[in-house]
Amino acid sequence: EREFARTVEARYAIGVNNGTSALLCALLALREKWTSFTVIVPTFTFIATANVVNVLRLPLELQDAKWDTWNIDAEKIKRKVDVLIPVDVGGLPCDYDTIKKLDCFVLEDAAEGLGGIYHGRKIGSIADVTTFSLHSAKIITSGEGGVITTNNKELYQIMKSIVNQGYPPTKKPWEYEHVRVGLNFRMTELQAALGLVQLKKLPKFLRKRQEIAKIYKEELSKYGSFQRVPKGVKHPYFLFGILVKPKKRDKLCARMLSEGVQVKVTWKPVHLQKPYRNLTMKEFPAAEFLYKRIISLPIHNNLTEEDAKEVVSIFKRCWRRI
Ligand SMILES: Cc1ncc(COP(=O)(O)O)c(C=O)c1O
Repeated sequence: EREFARTVEARYAIGVNNGTSALLCALLALREKWTSFTVIVPTFTFIATANVVNVLRLPLELQDAKWDTWNIDAEKIKRKVDVLIPVDVGGLPCDYDTIKKLDCFVLEDAAEGLGGIYHGRKIGSIADVTTFSLHSAKIITSGEGGVITTNNKELYQIMKSIVNQGYPPTKKPWEYEHVRVGLNFRMTELQAALGLVQLKKLPKFLRKRQEIAKIYKEELSKYGSFQRVPKGVKHPYFLFGILVKPKKRDKLCARMLSEGVQVKVTWKPVHLQKPYRNLTMKEFPAAEFLYKRIISLPIHNNLTEEDAKEVVSIFKRCWRRI
């Protein structure tokens, strides 16, 4: 926890058993401060971001994505906001200057965002609370795992006890006196040991991902468009996506998969998922646009430059044949 906090330049970090629990703990802590509040979540996210709000029966509102950065379109939020959960889509830091103007509590879902930098500030140190996932597919992993970071001492103490059955860290360990309702969201020591070793490799992993993204951008720009990385923002490239025409997308994915390239299409937006279909009449054109066009190309810590070049040549070959 100390090393993680140091790495992201936050005051406090709490290890938990996954990124979903990290979000849940943060919301449970907020519910202790305020009895009722509405939570705004982007529809273009992995469903966990909405599920944690849903299971706590908190009022949930969805917000569309930005066409170019694929992150939440905070400029279009015109109402008073209680809590916002912006998501760093694919790792790209959100537009925090606009988010700050909303003057609300910001719980950043940086499940994918470790290593991101926003105008000189590291992801994990900007929002009121930030949550990370250390799932096996993430930039660093502890098998399964998650981390919560904050600079807020009061929230830190509340969350630290929520992850451990409401047991306050300052109490004498033999007393079994629980001061609030919590559950067991603890990270195991084995996970922490693995995560710590991975954390040391983070700079190397991030460099590798930059190199792969550079190859994809240089080689594939005439086939589609990429997530726009605003000036002053560092993308850690948990995901690398390219947008192509919907008609081409599915055929291209099928062909690339048949040639052994593990492409994905990222998430179906939350408002189109069965549990959320009746939530709102609002329309989300940008999220649907992205959902129909994205191809997520292979990017991971063990992918070599040669592998990336091979992905490029298979992409081009498959493109010609569809
Ligand atoms: C945006 C986002 N939020 C939350 C999660 C949940 O993290 P975990 O799988 O560690 O519970 C993920 C995981 O993929 C994610 O991508």
